[in-house]
Amino acid sequence: MEIDGRIFVTRRIVGLDEALAQHGLAERYVIEVWEGESAPDRQTLRQKLPECVGILTQLTDLIDAELMDCAPRLRVISQYAVGVNNIDLAAATQRGIAVGHTPGVLTDATADMTFALLLAAARHVVAGADWVRAGKWQGWSPTLFLGKAVYGATLGILGYGRIGRAVARRAKGFAMRVLAHRVSAEEAAQDGVIAADFETLLRESDFLSLHVPLRPETHHLIDARALALMKPDSVLINMARGEVVDPQALYQALKAEQIGMAALDVTEPEPIPADHPLLSLPNCLIVPHLGSATLQTRRAMTELAVANLAAGLRGEPLPHRANP
Ligand code: DGY
Repeated sequence: MEIDGRIFVTRRIVGLDEALAQHGLAERYVIEVWEGESAPDRQTLRQKLPECVGILTQLTDLIDAELMDCAPRLRVISQYAVGVNNIDLAAATQRGIAVGHTPGVLTDATADMTFALLLAAARHVVAGADWVRAGKWQGWSPTLFLGKAVYGATLGILGYGRIGRAVARRAKGFAMRVLAHRVSAEEAAQDGVIAADFETLLRESDFLSLHVPLRPETHHLIDARALALMKPDSVLINMARGEVVDPQALYQALKAEQIGMAALDVTEPEPIPADHPLLSLPNCLIVPHLGSATLQTRRAMTELAVANLAAGLRGEPLPHRANP
């Protein structure tokens, strides 16, 4: 059979070979998978892309106009994530390149992880476990690691999309009062949440959870001014993108105990260097961008990313397209 072109997959992902075979890509295209431990660098992408009709990308691959110009045959960029802030969507649209992404399939895993961080921060789960492991546990104490009540507390959700809504559903099980920013009256009534403006959300939340996409208008949305409006014992959870929070301002706010704690799944920069000031703070909990990291979810993301790629290469509408 005649080969239709090359596809570059920038990282090995769960269930890739099965999905490529299932969508008939393995037999029609030359597929190269980057097997490196870390993302391919820009020079590698520049070398690989000129021959490619499709590329399956990760959020760590910066795909801008310059790179697209090295790839005159490129028809589809299929992103293995819901967020597409690493891809210049306008440049892709101008060049007639379809960009796919993976919403929906990672909603519940990300909402679960939001609650994992919320509970871990509220109840000092990580600090407590470290304490025991370090041999410091001398016996039960009435004042050891006193946390913050979750049940019945107020949860603010900034970014009331699929994931924000899934977090709200979980919050109902904890009898939380849920405030949501930019929620329609209909959705608010349906979900039993309260619509709140930005300032009210900051002022009234015991837990503030971030789920907005990274765009110019959300870059450092949580800055010194925003942090100053939050309650002194509040917990900030960032499940969106690191750049939504100003890290310097967050460091100052945590150090001065202007807010109680931060629990971050994402950071700026990412990965966060081991000597970053935020890591010196006991009231800052950071995990390495694990929101969608379950085996089942990652398999489903592979299936959807490959389905997007296959549809685009057939010239059909993508199941989930991120650019117009
Ligand atoms: C996304 O999908 O954007 C997450 O950050 C990674 O799964």
